[in-house]
Amino acid sequence: MKVTSAVFVKSAFQESDWPPDPRPEIAFLGRSNVGKSSLINSLLGTRGLARTSNTPGRTQSLNFYLINDRFRLVDLPGYGYAKAPKALKAEWGISAENYLAKREQLVLSIHLVDSRHEPSKQDLQLHEWLKHNQKPHFIVATKSDKLSNNELRKNIVRAERAFNSGRVLVYSATEKRGREDLWKVIEKSLKS
Ligand code: GTP
Ligand code: MG
Repeated sequence: MKVTSAVFVKSAFQESDWPPDPRPEIAFLGRSNVGKSSLINSLLGTRGLARTSNTPGRTQSLNFYLINDRFRLVDLPGYGYAKAPKALKAEWGISAENYLAKREQLVLSIHLVDSRHEPSKQDLQLHEWLKHNQKPHFIVATKSDKLSNNELRKNIVRAERAFNSGRVLVYSATEKRGREDLWKVIEKSLKS
């Protein structure tokens, strides 16, 4: 995919803020701090378009980016940030889940998991939800640069077993590892 334009459209805090036009959307989901915003930036080859931070739970709204005037990438709020106030925690869940459940433009959900850790209960729950609701989805293991090749191989096998849903794609935003393969997956979802 050649990215000729990447534009931040808006942050949505409620359903009425979602862009109304029918262009297809690819959503990025996963726990807080897993690297969603960094992955979006590395895919687009932009540095600060999607805001990243060391403070987990930073992305609390749904953030829409329009690519090549043709489709959108959507950065969803992260789940599982233990220190969030209860009210906020509930809100994140509802806004992301509402989007996943209702959005007709959604053609693919890219589920990010941290390559260093065993899939969490919430990771597995989200995966089950996507399967149960027949949402096209794809699993990506982030931050692979933080592991040795040996550890990485072991962890990917472990994740593939835990999710039991085919390939888990190895990714690193800092090294751009996995970028071309992930674009292929995205392009395929836009064609079908
Ligand atoms: P929330 O918006 O809080 O849900 O987080 P997020 O999932 O968008 O994570 P974000 O992209 O902000 O990244 C969190 C931290 O992980 C930042 O300090 C990033 O620099 C770091 N990070 C993300 N991806 C990678 C990666 O591939 N390699 C390394 N080494 N660090 C990464
Ligand atoms: Mg983020």
